[in-house]
Amino acid sequence: MSTSPETLRRTGGKPMKAIIYDAATIQQRVTEMGQEITKAYPEGDLLLIGILKGSVLFMADLVRAIERPVQMDFMVVSSYGAEKSSSGNVRLLYDSSIDLAGKHIVLVEDIIDSGRTLNRLVALLGERKPASLAIAALLDKRIAPEPPKELRFVGFHAPPAFLVGYGLDFAEAYRHLPFIADLE
Ligand code: IMP
Ligand code: MG
Repeated sequence: MSTSPETLRRTGGKPMKAIIYDAATIQQRVTEMGQEITKAYPEGDLLLIGILKGSVLFMADLVRAIERPVQMDFMVVSSYGAEKSSSGNVRLLYDSSIDLAGKHIVLVEDIIDSGRTLNRLVALLGERKPASLAIAALLDKRIAPEPPKELRFVGFHAPPAFLVGYGLDFAEAYRHLPFIADLE
């Protein structure tokens, strides 16, 4: 399948190997995930913490599909640098400033690859006495040797390729694409 002229304009001429999830497919699944989260938390304070920068588009669409009060915060971590594989070195660049005690926390992540990023964050946030701690990931490659047991909401089981778009980057490019593509 060849890359469309519209996509080439968005990527600056770089062809994509394949579009894995188009914009409509993503919107439909994210809406369902919002409904799942709405149902899962009938009461209590709910705080979604987006892991930047990858979760930015997912977070923005997900909160709009949640039909109950919800607060938003963000954390910034860096794990890849400009590589296509996880360095294993998870750096916390910006921490949530909201008091998590007694709140239902949902960590919002773009993709689970090795699972290292989330395992590190779950350990950190668990110490802050939340009422509960769950993970919502848009994509799960299902190759993590120790997937976090808090993983509760998953959008898609992704192929083990290097994906870009809808928040996912390669060396900071392609986050703005409205679809998710295989870069190789
Ligand atoms: P993990 O710690 O190995 O699970 O890596 C998770 C982080 O790596 C994600 O939040 C992404 O930022 C990044 N990542 C993992 N797989 C991909 C990919 O296929 N494309 C772009 N970024 C990825
Ligand atoms: Mg990244």
